[in-house]
Amino acid sequence: MYRFVFKTVFSRMDAESAHHLVVSGLRLGDRLGVTRVLERWCRPADSLQIRALGMVWPSPFGLAAGFDKAATMVLPLASLGFGHIEIGTVTGQAQPGNPRPRLFRLVKDRALINRMGFNNDGAAALRPRLEEIRTRISRLKESGRHVPVVGVNIGKTKLTPLAEATEDYLTSTRILAPVADYLVVNVSSPNTPGLRQLQDIEALRPLLSAVGQEADLAAGRHVPLLVKIAPDLEDDDVDAVADLVTGLELDGVIATNTTISRDGLRSDPGSVEAKGAGGLSGPVLADRSKQVLQRLRATLPRTTTIISVGGVTSGDDVAERLALGATLVQGYTAFVYEGPFWARRINRRLASMLRSG
Ligand SMILES: Cc1cc2nc3c(=O)[nH]c(=O)nc-3n(C[C@H](O)[C@H](O)[C@H](O)COP(=O)(O)O)c2cc1C
Repeated sequence: MYRFVFKTVFSRMDAESAHHLVVSGLRLGDRLGVTRVLERWCRPADSLQIRALGMVWPSPFGLAAGFDKAATMVLPLASLGFGHIEIGTVTGQAQPGNPRPRLFRLVKDRALINRMGFNNDGAAALRPRLEEIRTRISRLKESGRHVPVVGVNIGKTKLTPLAEATEDYLTSTRILAPVADYLVVNVSSPNTPGLRQLQDIEALRPLLSAVGQEADLAAGRHVPLLVKIAPDLEDDDVDAVADLVTGLELDGVIATNTTISRDGLRSDPGSVEAKGAGGLSGPVLADRSKQVLQRLRATLPRTTTIISVGGVTSGDDVAERLALGATLVQGYTAFVYEGPFWARRINRRLASMLRSG
């Protein structure tokens, strides 16, 4: 059914317009009460619950950053079975992102190229939305409903010079840490000029240490802090990030973001080039994402959380990441190709694997 809709409707539309159509559908469904029905049908089996970062997660599988940058769809998305939703990337100031078109499908590769450029409403606008979501979540939790863990991913405002990046991250931290179950410092999106330079250890150390302190101070509790890294880092740089995470006693790493590489694609090279710059995501990312995961796990103690993301499509893929040492797993691109019941399928597969030992 979804394949038919994708072929006849979505694939004929600009990819970002299709995204907005899906968003409107989800929000309408929520208002009409469909979310409740979906939640019953899609909620993960109790056997999938895991403990990580001091919380119980309803499933190891969640929705990666970028899908709900505005925190307007958290509960409708959770009703589709995601165990967690990562909001953002949110920046210190609101910004429009890059001019459209900025999101492209490579259907043959079931991949996406995006150069969204952190289009978002800014930290201050997100705060009341997340406060309301948290209130709704604690009420739903009391009545035994399926509720997600909600992470907040923060990045640098484009107009802020790189030298002032820390202050920009701290603005978002002060505003958003109190309403986040966990916080992610994103230094790996390819669409904000210079951002990935913050992955250099000499820049990353003071940034993570300042954000960590500010987050706990602003929230009055420990807010788990993770750093999200690019698949394009050299192996030595991945090892250096792992050492830094251990040294700073950070809670974890998210690996990986999209890649600037165009290797391994089956789509026509001319049409790929015509899409222009941007981050590539989808199955083509899987091998490097798994390598980075294994490298990180070889260095990081089991108590340090690794969230593996990049090219995950099936329940078997999620199980493989967990077997390779991931604590939790996320996905984004396959949602576009697999449709609304993607997380449900993944959860059911994981539950059946658990049952059969
Ligand atoms: C359209 C789009 C927008 C994204 N926006 C963000 C973002 O704002 N912040 C971020 O950390 N990652 C962002 N990502 C990266 C994803 O969170 C994920 O790391 C990446 O797509 C790899 O996973 P996948 O292959 O399952 O899509 C975005 C990805 C896509 C496709």
